[in-house]
Amino acid sequence: MRTRPLKVALLGCGVVGSEVARIMTTHADDLAARIGAPVELAGVAVRRPDKVREGIDPALVTTDATALVKRGDLDIVVEVIGGIEPARALITTAFEHGASVVSANKALLAQDGAALHAAAEEHGRDLYYEAAVAGAIPLIRPLRESLAGDKVNRVLGIVNGTTNFILDKMDTTGAGYQEALDEATALGYAEADPTADVEGFDAAAKAAILAGIAFHTRVRLDDVHREGMTEVTAADFASAKEMGCTIKLLAICERAGDGASVTARVHPAMIPLSHPLASVRGAYNAVFVESDAAGQLMFYGPGAGGAPTASAVLGDLVAVGRNRISGATGPGESAYAALPVSPMGEVVTRYHISLDVADKPGVLAQVATVFAEHGVSIDTVRQQGKDGEASLVVVTHRASDAALGGTVETLRKLDTVRGVASIMRVEGE
Ligand SMILES: NC(=O)c1ccc[n+]([C@@H]2O[C@H](COP(=O)([O-])OP(=O)(O)OC[C@H]3O[C@@H](n4cnc5c(N)ncnc54)[C@H](OP(=O)(O)O)[C@@H]3O)[C@@H](O)[C@H]2O)c1
Repeated sequence: MRTRPLKVALLGCGVVGSEVARIMTTHADDLAARIGAPVELAGVAVRRPDKVREGIDPALVTTDATALVKRGDLDIVVEVIGGIEPARALITTAFEHGASVVSANKALLAQDGAALHAAAEEHGRDLYYEAAVAGAIPLIRPLRESLAGDKVNRVLGIVNGTTNFILDKMDTTGAGYQEALDEATALGYAEADPTADVEGFDAAAKAAILAGIAFHTRVRLDDVHREGMTEVTAADFASAKEMGCTIKLLAICERAGDGASVTARVHPAMIPLSHPLASVRGAYNAVFVESDAAGQLMFYGPGAGGAPTASAVLGDLVAVGRNRISGATGPGESAYAALPVSPMGEVVTRYHISLDVADKPGVLAQVATVFAEHGVSIDTVRQQGKDGEASLVVVTHRASDAALGGTVETLRKLDTVRGVASIMRVEGE
């Protein structure tokens, strides 16, 4: 074993960073044996220097993260600050001063992954970010390395624990969205401002990262179609149950029909109870991968939390540490396929549409005609009438999002259609 230690700087010592530091200390001997050199915590950058941080030598703590990454003697910089700046500038500076980087920062990777990979490559350093998608679940490395010889066609995942907790509550207790969100907040599963989770921003960042790796193509956050789950109602769950389905907020990355393009999207969707993702409960995450040769794979586990996320960070630290010692670098960005990202209108799937209509003869035929005019084929229709009003639930065969959008627009103009109560995509069949 090499006796000169690998010097590691920790940028951020919050939920994740404090666990990274703890495991680095408590597992120091094992980490040294696995890497082939001891690991030394050389500095810890934070915002509030006076906060008591258990197990951290106060002499290592600094508020000057830039000076820390410019030291020039660092082997690895672990970025667990989050957000775009100063994380982006710090990572770039770390590469310029000879360090490799391990990051958990999905927002930054989704927005600027290509530039960061380019900086890593320019300086002959590693950029690893297993913790950026689905916390502890090994997913980036399996996609980047284990499946590098296969052709991935689809990635379908529950990649946000907060929203899965809320939807699971609604499903199992019949609660409405607000009630389930309040419980998630009280239990610490949702932040005081839950926007990033419930509006799908967090899942969209992960979808961009996953699609890019799976399809060897650059997919940016702006390329991901995003819809949140705040409009999902108890009535939607009742409809889903009648279809033998449940509702999940899904990140879906797939090759489009002819394989010449890809799509990436995040939205709530019905999935059959028989699909493995339907049984992912509480705040757990799971990602279902379909590939040519391997077939169907499912990755499951805790998608967040200090220790689980630190597990993924430490795994990267070991891999990057080994690379430093052998003088190698791991896989960089693979974007050679450069497939175009198709707009949402070209996505083809099935739909569950719930309409409030007048309860009188001919309405069903009128509605069916609108679907036919837009080339959307109906699979099943269910009608319930009461006091002159009725609800009509239509489930379609596969159709493009653009065709379905046109259908709904025309339906809204019909006198007999009082309103479109819900539109939900049906996935995983
Ligand atoms: N939490 C999770 O479960 C989870 C899961 C997967 C990925 N991640 C990712 O991991 C990263 C960190 O998340 P977290 O939950 O650990 O965040 P956090 O608890 O808010 O911790 C952020 C840390 O960064 C420090 N910091 C903030 N601004 C700084 C600056 N300008 N210079 C130096 N230090 C600064 C903070 O210092 P103070 O301690 O002084 O405030 C704190 O120690 C994010 O990218 C997040 O997306 C988190």
